[in-house]
Amino acid sequence: MKRHDVILTVAVAVLGIAVVLSASNQLTNNQLVKPTQPVEVRAMDMLEEGRQTFRFDTFGDETFWGDTLRLHEAINGLTPNQALALGLKVDVEALGGLANDIQQGKVNLDDPAATRVLIQRQAVLGVVGQFNADGTLRTVGLTCALCHSTVNNSLAAGIGQRLDGWANRDLNVGGIVAAAPNLDPIVGLLRIAIPTIDAATVRAVLNSWGPGKYDAELLFDGKAFTPDGKPAATMLPNAYGLSGHNLHTWTGGWGTVSYWNALVGVLLLRGNGTFFDPRMDNAAQFPIAAAARLGHVSVPPDQDRVTGKLPALHFYQLALPAPRPTAGVDFNADAAARGATVFTGKADCNRCHRTPLWTEPGWNAHTPAEMKIESFQADRSPDHTYRTMGLAGLFVRERGLFMRAENKGRFYHDGRFATLRDVVASYNQRFGLLLTVPEQLDLVEYLKSL
Ligand code: HEC
Ligand code: HEC
Repeated sequence: MKRHDVILTVAVAVLGIAVVLSASNQLTNNQLVKPTQPVEVRAMDMLEEGRQTFRFDTFGDETFWGDTLRLHEAINGLTPNQALALGLKVDVEALGGLANDIQQGKVNLDDPAATRVLIQRQAVLGVVGQFNADGTLRTVGLTCALCHSTVNNSLAAGIGQRLDGWANRDLNVGGIVAAAPNLDPIVGLLRIAIPTIDAATVRAVLNSWGPGKYDAELLFDGKAFTPDGKPAATMLPNAYGLSGHNLHTWTGGWGTVSYWNALVGVLLLRGNGTFFDPRMDNAAQFPIAAAARLGHVSVPPDQDRVTGKLPALHFYQLALPAPRPTAGVDFNADAAARGATVFTGKADCNRCHRTPLWTEPGWNAHTPAEMKIESFQADRSPDHTYRTMGLAGLFVRERGLFMRAENKGRFYHDGRFATLRDVVASYNQRFGLLLTVPEQLDLVEYLKSL
């Protein structure tokens, strides 16, 4: 379906080029041909605007991350090697001549000043700085690209071309936030649910997440740990392959991409915007959100830096394609063909992961009882369910492409399954599927082919 969209867009663009080319022989191959039809013009404008927003727009959240938490003070002392170790990624195309210098070892990656130069060139994914005259950061803001994009390591580990929509499973969000000198606003919110909590405990919670995880609901419900004492944070999901899906996020009932984008922009990134959701007034489920009235955030239109960005951001998100695996490289084609029969037949995966959307058309969520797993994370969502996760691009995580070896795999919302083999074995056991080992292996190859 999304591939059709892409094919259609390409077809329309090619058609447009053909029409323009035949109209004017002066055009050369490398001149950009702009579409002329209103729908195509709008589509291209929305894509470009949405891409800029996704990559670079802080929505004014510097007032929170920089001016209040003073995260920039920590970044001012951060060397590029430390930044890379925290999982921050560097866009090689924004580096210009600096890329060569890095390759030839001419840049001191243990000098914090080099990090500031990278941020100044907008090369550190998701980190947007404002600078003093002496080159130090005056304040800093964060964007969507921080967690939902990575790089292809074309220059070095952590330095390469941008891959928008790919979850950054190396990123230690908790470690980065914990480095901010002032956590008082976070402590203050959490005290609504946990009156005795202090900054040291909040730092410990943030540092417990580890790479590839973030807790989007922590400041709504104050639940930092699962009943068995594990961090309540979830895996960073991909932001590609999402068109045609109704519900998003791991847990069900929050809403569509456009809903979640608004929530993230205002409540998580803390941009200057407006967000309305009266479900957050449910004090039993969301004690913090209800008391702080997070479902009723409103700023005057002339100060709102989120709302006007939502249409193009939505459009861009839906346009991000899931990466396509290559037969013989990423999966075994014969085994995958056999696995397709298992997927729709004996294993009945297609009941929920509906071909070719890989989630259900409609209300794509299931109760913990249906999933035969515990309810902890589901109970943090309005619907008390788990959303049927899409499956396109699974091979990336199975192979650990563009991520550190220790961070690969990690399937399900908390990353409980290290490999697809583990996922399949668990379904086999939980749902009593009676799959033979060869059937399970074929199913894994099929999953890698999606
Ligand atoms: C600090 C890391 C972080 C940042 C920054 C971030 N997100 Fe997310 N995003 C997450 C996590 C974690 C989830 C999963 C939340 C859950 O399921 O509870 C998520 C979920 C999503 C989803 C749902 C994906 C799916 O599985 O269907 C979308 C869409 C999304 N984010 C968009 C955005 C946009 C747009 C921005 C910028 C405005 C953004 N995110 C910024 C961490 C982040
Ligand atoms: C009853 C509906 C249902 C059925 C049947 C089902 N799934 Fe799932 N699947 C889900 C849900 C819901 C999730 C998300 C679980 C979570 O949030 O942790 C999921 C997650 C997954 C994931 C992890 C995705 C990720 O990004 O981490 C994989 C892989 C997967 N399913 C494969 C399968 C396979 C293979 C089968 C058949 C053996 C199957 N599923 C059957 C509902 C279902």
